[in-house]
Amino acid sequence: MAEAPRPPSQEFHSVLAENRVFPPSPEFASRAHIRSMEDYRRLWDEAERDPDAYWGARAREELYWKEPFQTVLDWKPPHARWFVEGRTNLAYNCLDRHLDKRRDKTAILFEGEPGDRRKVTYGELTRDVNRLANGLRSLGVRKGDRVGIYLPMIPEAAVAMLACARIGAVHSVVFGGFSAEALLERMNDAGARVLLTADGGWRKGVVVPLLENVRKALPQMNSLERVVVFQRTTQGTLQLSGKELAWSELVSKQSDTCEPEWVESEHPLFILYTSGSTGKPKGVLHTTGGYAVNASLTTRWVFDLKDEDVYWCTADVGWVTGHSYVVYGPLMNGATTVIYEGAPNHPGPDRFWDLIAREKITILYTAPTAIRAFMRLGDEHPKRHDLSSLRVLGSVGEPINPEAWMWYRDVIGGGRCPVVDTWWQTETGSIMLSPLPGATPTKPGSATLPLPGIHTEVLDRQGNSVPANQGGLLFVTRPWPSMLRTVYGDPDRYVRTYFSELPGKYFTGDGARRDNDGYFWLMGRVDDVVNVAGHRLGTAEVESALVAHKSVSEAAVVGRPDELKGTALVAFVTLKQGVAPSPELKKELGAHVTKEIGAIARPDEIRFAEGLPKTRSGKIMRRLLRDVAGGKQTTGDVTTLEDLNVLATLRNNEE
Ligand code: WTA
Repeated sequence: MAEAPRPPSQEFHSVLAENRVFPPSPEFASRAHIRSMEDYRRLWDEAERDPDAYWGARAREELYWKEPFQTVLDWKPPHARWFVEGRTNLAYNCLDRHLDKRRDKTAILFEGEPGDRRKVTYGELTRDVNRLANGLRSLGVRKGDRVGIYLPMIPEAAVAMLACARIGAVHSVVFGGFSAEALLERMNDAGARVLLTADGGWRKGVVVPLLENVRKALPQMNSLERVVVFQRTTQGTLQLSGKELAWSELVSKQSDTCEPEWVESEHPLFILYTSGSTGKPKGVLHTTGGYAVNASLTTRWVFDLKDEDVYWCTADVGWVTGHSYVVYGPLMNGATTVIYEGAPNHPGPDRFWDLIAREKITILYTAPTAIRAFMRLGDEHPKRHDLSSLRVLGSVGEPINPEAWMWYRDVIGGGRCPVVDTWWQTETGSIMLSPLPGATPTKPGSATLPLPGIHTEVLDRQGNSVPANQGGLLFVTRPWPSMLRTVYGDPDRYVRTYFSELPGKYFTGDGARRDNDGYFWLMGRVDDVVNVAGHRLGTAEVESALVAHKSVSEAAVVGRPDELKGTALVAFVTLKQGVAPSPELKKELGAHVTKEIGAIARPDEIRFAEGLPKTRSGKIMRRLLRDVAGGKQTTGDVTTLEDLNVLATLRNNEE
């Protein structure tokens, strides 16, 4: 047997020996919003002493409130209501309130994959949002109605989200890389009345067939009344029929002004589906006031965002990072936010660096998986471009290994830019753990410390504090404004998933440890969720996709460490009687998962097995399979049940 494999998180996260520390440079600190650890601690203590006063002050600073709130927090664990009597509108906060000073400032700097460019000013964005908002109202969309968004990364994605917010409709964005099936499931769960989509989007030189996917799902979309189609990739008149309607037609007759719907602070803003440990994705529900306060505040503090910055978060709006840090956070701050449509390596490996140099981008926020991919492509590509405009670099989505962190800092940041490794989740709505670039000394691979007012702890299952340098479970022990409010349509699941491990404390699903300085080091998921190339997936979702195939009897999907993607997916599959394993069948199963969920969920490796190792109670022994997947003990086409049983016996003896 090869060397004993370790669980993915620890193997990948070889940080125990990491002791480099990088304090912020005095020049950077002297100009930053938060300039020292004393500043940070002062805010922290303020929040600790009187959380209501602290958050109340932040909420008044960050947002325009049409009606002021009286109650900062109403906490009946595990249910929180923030800024209770307040009324506001997020589109107003992202647009109208900037118009006096920033009407002609670029709000969105767009670059399409084919090279087309658009600068959308705050004035133009306001007009576009208002027209679409009026258009949605003309279709009968009212406050509280759900609207689906299935668009490429074009300015209209932001326009769509803001138009919903303007009229109090609840948006649910579905990542354009998801399949027709995945879209269908989400739209039906949300009960969407209208879907905003496009004919297609550009990715790696080809068109992602969004409208085609919509059409496949449409007959089964129970609640859907209209599909509004933006024309992005085709020429000539769009051929539309039935429930379909051209975006251009919908907005052309509309007024440029639209009275915002002043919603209660707790009015739902969006539902975003994310993976959990069961086969069914969870509709994470965020509400207006609390979400907005945190999204706005963290964008400014964590990235040290200023009016003159050109800020680029490379996430797709289909993920929470795109919600909080492409659209809402930057626009609430009146910033210029960059939207790039396509693949990072199209048409060449230096697309990102070319864009940064050309547009003089100052803040870059991306994922470790991208950083590792660039690192592998070689230093010559970034080095060909002038990246001296950059001043802050961010990372999100998965643990960043110290090697990638150092490369990011040195090669992309020229050794001059602070790196902020930001830990958070769809459920937290905004960044929770992160350095503040002008204050916090950073260590490669650590998300450092919680932001002021955020209480994170590493605990064991009994709720005891875990001593320094030992792994435990990461909890958030007090409510925070941008926390999820429920799982849409399934309030029990909210309590079960997040608040049943320790009552009243939010369980993140992540493992972590703290070092002697109290810094947090994330160790990966402890549940059946995996982060594959920065995309969050549930192994159970992939399993249910596999067993839906006619040849498959059983499937177990686990993660294994992968140098590039962080985690790769390995599927163990048993076939129905009479079905022979073959390389063609592996291909077919891969294509099947792509069809059911999307290409991001296609297993990197499929292994046929004669049976799956199970405990006496019939549970699949996933830990064992993770070991097998990571250690490559078995060779050949079929892993026999006997092999697995032998391993299972060994494992049982060990425990
Ligand atoms: C992981 C993305 C380590 C973590 C914003 C979390 C991270 C999951 C980091 C949430 C980080 C995110 N270091 N791990 N800086 N950021 N994660 O919901 O496992 O798509 O639970 O939100 O990503 O993924 P989600």
